[in-house]
Amino acid sequence: MTILEDGDLHTLRQELPAMFDGVKLAAVATILYILVRCLNLKSSTAPPKIINQDTPLSRYLLKSCPMLTKEYIPPLLWGKSGHLQTALYGKMGRVNTPTPHGVRKFLPMLQDGATATFDLFEALRDHSTGDDITMVICPGIGNHSEKNYIRTFVDYSQQQGYRCAVLNHLGALPNMELTSPRMFTCGCTWEFSAMVDYIKHTFPQTLLVVVGFSLGGNVVCKFLGENRSNQERVLCCVSVCQGYSAIGAQETFLQWDQWRRLYNFVLAGNMKKLILSHSETLRSLNSSNIADADLSQLSAATSLMQIDDSIMRKFHGYSSLNEYYEKESCVHYIHKITVPLLLVNSLDDPLVHQSLLAVPRTLAEKKPNVIFALTQHGGHMGFFEGDVLFPEPLTWMDKVIIEYTDAICHWEKKKNWSVCQRSNHRDTNFSEATHSG
Ligand SMILES: *[C@@H]1O[C@H](CO)[C@@H](O)[C@H](O)[C@H]1NC(C)=O
Ligand SMILES: *[C@@H]1O[C@H](CO)[C@@H](O)[C@H](O)[C@H]1NC(C)=O
Ligand SMILES: *[C@@H]1O[C@H](CO)[C@@H](O)[C@H](O)[C@H]1NC(C)=O
Ligand SMILES: *[C@@H]1O[C@H](CO)[C@@H](O)[C@H](O)[C@H]1NC(C)=O
Repeated sequence: MTILEDGDLHTLRQELPAMFDGVKLAAVATILYILVRCLNLKSSTAPPKIINQDTPLSRYLLKSCPMLTKEYIPPLLWGKSGHLQTALYGKMGRVNTPTPHGVRKFLPMLQDGATATFDLFEALRDHSTGDDITMVICPGIGNHSEKNYIRTFVDYSQQQGYRCAVLNHLGALPNMELTSPRMFTCGCTWEFSAMVDYIKHTFPQTLLVVVGFSLGGNVVCKFLGENRSNQERVLCCVSVCQGYSAIGAQETFLQWDQWRRLYNFVLAGNMKKLILSHSETLRSLNSSNIADADLSQLSAATSLMQIDDSIMRKFHGYSSLNEYYEKESCVHYIHKITVPLLLVNSLDDPLVHQSLLAVPRTLAEKKPNVIFALTQHGGHMGFFEGDVLFPEPLTWMDKVIIEYTDAICHWEKKKNWSVCQRSNHRDTNFSEATHSG
């Protein structure tokens, strides 16, 4: 500083404010640039990419479901960031969440004495077809009917005339003790199957719509494909944001692109808390496959795979992680589904790597009953809608599921009605014949 002459100091003093302005301008520009980049503001909205075979049903569906062919427009400022959509869903679920009133049902499982629970919500008005239709819903990993996104969807479905039954994943409900040393796993369909049996039995006239969110999508697709009889009385199935193949997802979950390793860490933290809340029961019950060593291994886990390896696979006695993922992924069953099937994923879902989307893509190309809808934005289970900043209570996802199922219900109704008409005609002709004869 001593080298500076008076004159230099003087000009510096004059230039400083200008320099500060320049720095400020550069800072603002940098922040704007980062914002635009992170918030992905430059990305344009587009209609979902639809993959399907050209059949009368899919033509009818694409005509009756404008949401599938129109642009999905996320909130302007943050909705194009898959991370913000996912974070908002993960932290808040939904905004202004309604509280539908249901009845909790308890089902003893014949397999091992576990107690499955689900919540039953009656329809708030008649369905537009006049039929009795029940949505059987499987939530995401470790989730239950009290989660905000489930309550939002259930309330909306009830208002459209659907009865809803929501599975609470085994061990997911707070304050509900396990009655056997087992929790839900990524593909175990026992509890979901028990719930569906209960519904079919209790409401002999009802038809079913099967809905799975995230991991629940894997469970429902495996359930339907596992046994043909599981598709009886099922009108259609919708799966949102699932990953299809656990074995394929496994590798991608350790990669850092899209911060997937971080999401893995956060999800693992939630799972760990859930399992540890049952650690006493898991340890003390007879015939438990879980040892103290497994629980201490669990404490050190930082990824879902470590948790699956130390705990989850043992609930069903799988000898390796690969066997667990192989046997419990829906990818080996989903092609056996013959009822109409809508698979929804988002391109900017930070949890589901794009390589996994080859499964629904090929399925929709090969099978006439499948429509695969891939949105540009939406994140993992976000799909928020809203003008600029504030999201609306209902999301694109809620609306598109109802639009699709409504369309299917009407299609089936018309089909049965024309069958009815035909048999009526036959009766008329028959009676005419008898009268005249
Ligand atoms: C349940 O859902 C929330 C999002 O609503 C998610 O953040 C969480 O990881 C899920 N699982 C568990 C075990 O809490
Ligand atoms: C399919 O389900 C029916 C009825 O529940 C059952 O009798 C049959 O054994 C099942 N088949 C298989 C292969 O699991
Ligand atoms: C658990 O095992 C102990 C002895 O091994 C036995 O006395 C007890 O009755 C068993 N409890 C149950 C619930 O089966
Ligand atoms: C019933 O009879 C009418 C004429 O009386 C005929 O046009 C129609 O095809 C018949 N329908 C059937 C199902 O036989």
